[in-house]
Amino acid sequence: MEEVSNKQVVLKDYVNGFPKESDMLINTSATISLNLPQGSNALLVKNLYLSCDPYMRNRMTKTEDSYVPSFTPGSPMEGFGVAKVLDSGHANFKKGDLFWGITGWEEYSIITAPESVFKIEHTDVPLSYYTGILDEMVNACNFSPSKREPFISIQQSSMPGMTAYFGFYEICAPKKGECVFVSAASGAVGQLVGQFAKLLGCYNVGGKMLEAVLLNMRLHGRISVCGMISQYNLEQGDGVRNLFCLVSKRLSMKGFIVADHYHLYPKYMEMVIPLIKQGKICYIEDIVEGLESTPVTLVGLFSGRNVGKQVVVVARE
Ligand SMILES: NC(=O)c1ccc[n+]([C@@H]2O[C@H](COP(=O)([O-])OP(=O)(O)OC[C@H]3O[C@@H](n4cnc5c(N)ncnc54)[C@H](OP(=O)(O)O)[C@@H]3O)[C@@H](O)[C@H]2O)c1
Repeated sequence: MEEVSNKQVVLKDYVNGFPKESDMLINTSATISLNLPQGSNALLVKNLYLSCDPYMRNRMTKTEDSYVPSFTPGSPMEGFGVAKVLDSGHANFKKGDLFWGITGWEEYSIITAPESVFKIEHTDVPLSYYTGILDEMVNACNFSPSKREPFISIQQSSMPGMTAYFGFYEICAPKKGECVFVSAASGAVGQLVGQFAKLLGCYNVGGKMLEAVLLNMRLHGRISVCGMISQYNLEQGDGVRNLFCLVSKRLSMKGFIVADHYHLYPKYMEMVIPLIKQGKICYIEDIVEGLESTPVTLVGLFSGRNVGKQVVVVARE
């Protein structure tokens, strides 16, 4: 069997405060066989695009009570990505198929639960979009390439496209002519909310501080909360002032995890694929080359270094 080198990004140890590039290392000594053993029902894949997402910070901390499991120090990290099947022991996949889903931060991975990844059907849009605007959620059964075993009922929280869709349309129930505020508007989620709002005929008034937003909300306004990136690296989260505006302005404010709403994915795809093809939605990606760039790129998310969806290219097909 052909053995090749398999470069990997490994978390050295759990992280406190802001993550640093030195919290991860590039392991150049691992190897992998490019053929699956006889009888395996796994997939052997070549990773093409990896997604860097803010929720990954949570996985770099040892935690028991999070909605995502901690990474294992000493093992390759993992996240959403697009990969190509090199060898398949599973009836639903054959050599050459492309899929997106959770994969390892390494050149090649073994996907031990192929039912947890999704074959790419629309190949007439950029493949990297499946790390951002077009990815869905992995809800029921997931797997960990680092542990090489399935784990059940993990709700990954990436899915920027669906997050924008659910938070805007379902929670905010916007009407033409209303004003829309988008925080973190330059990122993977926020850039879409701004465009959805414009397509619907809303006014996008922009801004960045929840406290200021509360003061400026209109009567009966709706706030959908998908994340708070400024809080992810703090030992003690900030308090929020001006919350009485919720009462005086009759506001509603609702948080959500996109993975709870996976049933809306077909509806979202039906809406967004034509918008992409007609050029009515423009999805900005911040594309970085090379697996070695992944640590510095991930760290950059927390200082706003990226403009648009952060993607790392491991290999191009
Ligand atoms: N609930 C869910 O299911 C779900 C799903 C996906 C994402 N999310 C959350 O949604 C948020 C946006 O995610 P994303 O994928 O769009 O991330 P992203 O592409 O990294 O964009 C986030 C943006 O946040 C801003 N930012 C970075 N660090 C900041 C800081 N310390 N203080 C204030 N702003 C900061 C940056 O904008 P500037 O350039 O303006 O600084 C950055 O472009 C995150 O909080 C993420 O966890 C939630």
